[in-house]
Amino acid sequence: MEKLRVGVVGCGRISNTYRAALKQLEDEVDVVWAVDKVLARAQAFAASFPGCRAADTLEPMLADPPQAVHILTPHHLHKQQAIACLRAGAHVLTEKPVALHLSDAREMAQEARRCGRWLAVVSQNRYIPGIVHARKLIQEGRLGALRGAWSQLTWWRPPSYYECDWKGSWETEGGGVVIDQAIHSIDLVRWLMDSPVKAVQGHIARRILTNIEVEDEADAAIEFENGAVYAFFACNYYTHNSPIRLEIDGEKGSVLLEGETVTVSLKGEKPYRILPCDDVLEGESYWGNNHLAQIREFYQSIREDRQPPVPTEEAAATLETVLALYRSARLGARQTLPLRD
Ligand SMILES: NC(=O)c1ccc[n+]([C@@H]2O[C@H](COP(=O)([O-])OP(=O)(O)OC[C@H]3O[C@@H](n4cnc5c(N)ncnc54)[C@H](O)[C@@H]3O)[C@@H](O)[C@H]2O)c1
Repeated sequence: MEKLRVGVVGCGRISNTYRAALKQLEDEVDVVWAVDKVLARAQAFAASFPGCRAADTLEPMLADPPQAVHILTPHHLHKQQAIACLRAGAHVLTEKPVALHLSDAREMAQEARRCGRWLAVVSQNRYIPGIVHARKLIQEGRLGALRGAWSQLTWWRPPSYYECDWKGSWETEGGGVVIDQAIHSIDLVRWLMDSPVKAVQGHIARRILTNIEVEDEADAAIEFENGAVYAFFACNYYTHNSPIRLEIDGEKGSVLLEGETVTVSLKGEKPYRILPCDDVLEGESYWGNNHLAQIREFYQSIREDRQPPVPTEEAAATLETVLALYRSARLGARQTLPLRD
C-alpha cells in the first residue's frame, strides 16, 4: 500500500493526541509537514516523524502540498485554512467545530466539491464502541420510538486554560463550554436521535470563570422533529472532568453513556454494558480517545474515494443547534430551525 503524505496544521494541546495516533498509523502515512505559527511547536511535532518539515505559515506546505491535512487550530481559522488546503489539492480533516458560522460551513463544503477533494470534521466520540452499538440498536428499532434524551457535562477548565490568544472570546473561540466542550454531547445525541432538531430554548451564564467573555455554564431544552425533547446541561467550573453522562430513552428501552461505558437496558431483558476499547492513546486524555479510529477511517475513505465521516453538512447541523442555543439565550426566546444566518 502506497503511504499517504499528510500534514498537520496547529501543534498545540490536541496535537499530542494526533502525534500518538499518527505514530500508530506509520505503516499507512508519512507525516511530511508540521505547521504552527509558533515555529518551535511545529519543530517539536516534526521531530517525531523522520523527514517531516516544519513551518510557521501555511505557504511552504501549500507549495508542496501533502495529500491530506489535519487542521488543529483555533476555531476562527478552520474555514480559511481548510479552504486554502483544499485549493492546494489536499483532502482535509478539521477539528470541531467545523467553523463559527453556518455560511462558513456551507462555503467550505462548496469549495470541497469544487476542488474535488474530501472535507470532514472530527467527532471522535461517535467511535466509542458502545455508541456504535447504541446507534445500531436504535436504527434497528430495538429502543422503539425515541421519547427523550439528557446529557450532563460537568468539567473543569481552570482560569489558566483561557490565558491564550483565542480561548474565552466570542470572536475566536465562538463561545465557551457549549461550542468547545459540550458540542460533543450535542453531536452524539443528534446522531443517535437521527431526527432533525426542531427548536432550541437555552440559557447561558458566566458564573465562576470571570476572566472570560463567553459562557462557563449552559442549559437548554432541545426539541426534535420526532417529538423527543433533550434536556442539556454543561459547565466548565466543576472540581474535575467528571465522566460525561448522556441517555437516550425509547418506548422499549434506553442507552446510558457514562464516560465511555454504555449501559443498554431493553424492556424485559437483563441490562448489559459495553466497555470502551483499551486502545487508548498516550497524551492528554480527552473524552474520548477515539481519534485514532476516526483518523484511520479518514485515510481509508480517501483510498476508497468515498466521503469520510463526519461530512461537513452533518457537522454544520450540530453547529446549527449550538448557534440556536446561543441565539435563544441572547434573545430570551425559543428558536426554531433552520436558523437564518
Ligand atoms: N476533538 C476533541 O476532543 C478536541 C479536544 C481538544 C481540542 N480540540 C480542537 O482542536 C483545536 C485546537 O485546540 P487546542 O486545544 O489544541 O488549542 P491550542 O491553543 O493548544 O493549539 C492551537 C495551536 O494552533 C496554533 N496556531 C494559531 N494560529 C495559527 C495559524 N494561523 N497557523 C498555524 N498555527 C496556528 C497555535 O500556536 C497553537 O499551537 C480546536 O478546534 C479545538 O476545539 C478538539
